Amino acid sequence: MSRSRAGGYTRRPHFNKSLAHRVSYYGLVLSAPAGFRLVAPLRLHPFGETTLLARAGRTFVCKRLASRGRSEAEARERLLREAAILRALDGCRAPRLVAEGEDDSGHYFVMEHLNGAPLTRYLEAGVPVPLTWFHLVAADAWCALAELHAKGDGQGDLDIVHGDLAPDNILFAPNERIVFVDFGLASWRHGGPLGTTARGTLLYAAPEVVRGERMDRRSDLFALAATLLHLACAKAPRQGKTEATLVLEAGEEPIERWANDAAKRVTGPLGRALVACVSFQPAQRPSSAKEALVR
Ligand SMILES: Nc1ncnc2c1ncn2[C@@H]1O[C@H](COP(=O)(O)OP(=O)(O)O)[C@@H](O)[C@H]1O
Ligand SMILES: [Mg+2]
Repeated sequence: MSRSRAGGYTRRPHFNKSLAHRVSYYGLVLSAPAGFRLVAPLRLHPFGETTLLARAGRTFVCKRLASRGRSEAEARERLLREAAILRALDGCRAPRLVAEGEDDSGHYFVMEHLNGAPLTRYLEAGVPVPLTWFHLVAADAWCALAELHAKGDGQGDLDIVHGDLAPDNILFAPNERIVFVDFGLASWRHGGPLGTTARGTLLYAAPEVVRGERMDRRSDLFALAATLLHLACAKAPRQGKTEATLVLEAGEEPIERWANDAAKRVTGPLGRALVACVSFQPAQRPSSAKEALVR
């Protein structure tokens, strides 16, 4: 990628993707906050970095902005909101917030490192996952979403919508619990990324999210159901090969036919519930994760 004259990013065909190159190119800092030791980078992109840290024999995960991100109010607001949401969730199906602050390298937050594998790992083989395992994961993922959406505190309902449920952001922990990470596009009772250019993960995002319209809990139902059905059938919900074609496809084309095929492997009422959750129109979906299960 290279910065175009207009200030946006265009693809450079022979861009060297080595770690050192990306770090300097994106203006990343790869520095641990005081008191922590940097172990390894987990994810680097033009707006920021996610790194693995250690302190006193325990591991943690740090998110901070790249220098380009630091200059963008939207990216900073996203980082601060993500930290605030993690604090309010207090470990409810999400990592606990451990520290938050600003140093010479800018804003950062540190959370506990969850010992689990993202669902992406189970898609890598390109074959449907075993059915018994699928039902175990799907049942707990559905409970996890119901708990996330119902979470409240002393001031009332947190009103959380994750906004970017996708295999990469859903971890399956060794205790067979599903946990969500990456609340960078989430909204809650104090606001959300409405009106931004963020569109979620295009293979799984609900049409209204991709079109930049108002999202609500039903958008999370769509994205989680699309993710689970992908696990069940090993075929992605959308076929677009570039960001531009995927945006068009996701915003305009229903995926119900794909979902009906994918759900053929899923026994019992769960299959029907998952298909209902990926209805193109939000009004056709169940109104909550709880309702989806009892339908
Ligand atoms: N608290 C955590 N514990 C374990 N793994 C994590 C944690 N936070 C993030 N990860 C891993 O790092 C990846 C990148 O983090 P994420 O918050 O999704 O960053 P991005 O906003 O760049 O997508 C995730 O897909 C997940 O695999
Ligand atoms: Mg992510």
